[in-house]
Parts: sequence; structure tokens; C-alpha cells
Amino acid sequence: MFILVIKITSHIYPIQIKLNFIKQYYYLSLIITVRKKIIAGNWKMHKTQAEALEFLSVLKLNLANTTEKADIVLCVPFTLLSLLSKSLHGGNIHLGAQNIHWANEGAFTGEISGSMLVDLNANYVIVGHSERRQYFGETDKIVNEKVIAAQYHKIKPILCVGETKKQRDAGEVEKVIVKQLEQSLVNVDQGNLVIAYEPIWAIGTGETCNVLEANRIIGIIREQVTNKGITIQYGGSVTPKNISEIMTQPNIDGVLVGGASLNPLSFSEIINY
Ligand code: 13P
Repeated sequence: MFILVIKITSHIYPIQIKLNFIKQYYYLSLIITVRKKIIAGNWKMHKTQAEALEFLSVLKLNLANTTEKADIVLCVPFTLLSLLSKSLHGGNIHLGAQNIHWANEGAFTGEISGSMLVDLNANYVIVGHSERRQYFGETDKIVNEKVIAAQYHKIKPILCVGETKKQRDAGEVEKVIVKQLEQSLVNVDQGNLVIAYEPIWAIGTGETCNVLEANRIIGIIREQVTNKGITIQYGGSVTPKNISEIMTQPNIDGVLVGGASLNPLSFSEIINY
């Protein structure tokens, strides 16, 4: 007798084949991981409400005839979450924030908590972006607490890691990335996580990381995580011109796009790659 049991979870497809042979059971487990692709835009500190609605109307027109190759996420300023959560309703576009506080509430003037983000229907949140680390003093420990806070509220963190030019030139890329991961992933549920490799020297500079190199580093990141099904994106000067080449790399599961996500035409070209 031959029984094939297929169990489908969110994006990992474990296939278990159970063999009955001379009254003995032999189990052959074959795990096939199909990783979810995610194309996310990070608007950073851009756009008023009117500009966001204008963006969305043009984007939606340009996505009308495309096949869904990847999930789309828009990580917008806090001030746009409420508006966009109503406008995105029912579409294939998910909503993300760009920051979260580690505490659920308290005396933290100017901060936004996970429960506030849930209230505004944010499904994703960027954590540990290099701009937060550089300008707002976020350490790996703080990043770790923020990832845990997001997961507590069932918001999927997009954890950013990446090296500076100086660290790359000193041959320290692997060491830097491994340390960031080790410290950021303490007590983290790897079943509810996205990682973005964003080399800092490639952000906003037009100097994209060589795709083979980005693929290599993302392979190293995957070696560090226990859940091999995690979506790992590349970020740093992604444009309509380089998206196809980036997406053909076997380790790269999507992109985190800054500047080119601000224009609905260039972002739709990236989504329709
Ligand atoms: P750019 O695409 O503008 O280089 O920004 C990348 C980024 O920081 C995404 O989070």
C-alpha cells in the first residue's frame, strides 16, 4: 500500500511519503521549501495623504494585467497607515510600517506601539533599517526587542542587516552580518520573519551590489537561520533596470525598494518584472 500525504503550510510544502512494506512502516520524508517572494517599498519620510492616494491610483492601474509573482508590501510613514489600510482593502498589496516601539504602551513620547500598528492594519514592519541604526542609535539589542514586539502582535518584521563600505573594504562583511543576526534573533520566532540584506553603501547611491555577491551573502544569511524557508530580500538601489537580474538569483526572494518605490510607474515596473 502506498499513501501520499501532502500537508501545506504558509509557504513550506512538506511532503511525507509513507510506505507499507511487509507489515513494517517505513517513512520517507521529503521537505521541499518554496519560499515566498516579497517585493516591498520603503517610502521612508515621503508623501502626504494626497500624494499617497495619487500614487495608489496610478499603481493599481498599472498592476491590473499582471500575474502575481510576489506579494507586494508598502511600508509607509505612520501618518499614512490609516488612509492606506482603507484604500488597500481587498487587494494584493499589504501594508507595512517602518518602525515599532518595543513596549506595548508607556511614557515614550513620540513612539508608536505594536498594538497601535495592529489597530491600523499593518501586517509588516521594517526593523533595524540602517537609517534607524545610524541616525537614531538603534543597536542590535534594541532591534531584537523590536522584532520580538512585532511578533508578539503578529506583525511580520522585515529585519534589515548590512555592512558599511568601510566594513566591506576591510573584508568584514560575513563577520558583521553574522553578528547582527546572532544578536537580533535571540528568542525570535523564525516562522514569522523576513530578512532584508541591505548593504549600506548601496542604499540611495545608485551603486547596486553585484547580484552574484548579493546572492552569496544571502546564502550566508540563510546558513545562519534555522528556518530555511525564510524570505530573504535584497535592498539597495533596486530599479526597473536591475530587478530581473536580481530576481533570477536563486537565494534572493524579493527586494526592499527605497527611491524607486516612490514613483508608481517605476514601482509597478519592478513589481511586473
Ligand atoms: P534605495 O532603493 O533608495 O537604495 O533604498 C533602499 C532602502 O533603504 C530600502 O529600505
